[in-house]
Amino acid sequence: MSVIRPNLRVAVFVERFAESDIPAQLYILKFHRMRLSNRHLEQKAVDLCDIQPDHDVLEVGFGGGEGLKYAAKQVRGGSGKIFGIDISNVCVQHASSKFKRLIRKDKIDVSLGTVGNLPYEPNTFHSAFHVNTFFFWSNMSLACSELYRVLRPGSKLVSVVDLKHYSVLKKKNLLPMMSVDPINYMFSLEAAGFTDVRVEYFEERGVEYPAFLASVEPDLKVELE
Ligand SMILES: C[S@@+](CC[C@H](N)C(=O)[O-])C[C@H]1O[C@@H](n2cnc3c(N)ncnc32)[C@H](O)[C@@H]1O
Repeated sequence: MSVIRPNLRVAVFVERFAESDIPAQLYILKFHRMRLSNRHLEQKAVDLCDIQPDHDVLEVGFGGGEGLKYAAKQVRGGSGKIFGIDISNVCVQHASSKFKRLIRKDKIDVSLGTVGNLPYEPNTFHSAFHVNTFFFWSNMSLACSELYRVLRPGSKLVSVVDLKHYSVLKKKNLLPMMSVDPINYMFSLEAAGFTDVRVEYFEERGVEYPAFLASVEPDLKVELE
């Protein structure tokens, strides 16, 4: 008889999520895939944010946590802090355990919640980013207004998406509740108050990806308040 010795971390993970409605093994695969395949997109989003060591930065929909990890490196040695919010309890629990040390050092903060009701004060963040996430927002205008509210005057919002991959998933109806509509996203950003809303393309490993960028005008926001 062969004995399978499970990796301890996997075993803890399986135990923790065994009672959830999706089998734990699927979560492990999902995290593994997110972590490996999207790392370069998360890093690109962080780079586009131009994070300085004293910046407070928000990631919405951090999933496997690669973006939080890379962003936290940018504020190492400064007074800055990286905040993450995700609607998935599994993602939040995973990040809480993965970043235990950085959370204790007050460099990372993770919250369970939705982009439509952000638990932060107005004008908190120097930048915010999200990767492969806006497709899942049920109320796009509320989401964009909330992001605008918590961003500081003069700050920027970055969104990177694997548009081709999600368009294929949508076409195959694999994620029916998802809306792959970048134009609606961009219009909603403008309606919420963002300026200079634009898309730039970049290439990674021979594939072209869009990055959506939007700014919060330094003066305009002050006038609106
Ligand atoms: C496709 S995953 C992307 C995860 C990660 N950014 C990446 O690229 O690997 C989408 C993430 O957004 C989160 N999410 C979906 N709707 C959300 C909402 N309304 N508010 C906050 N997070 C949300 C999901 O739980 C999930 O972690």
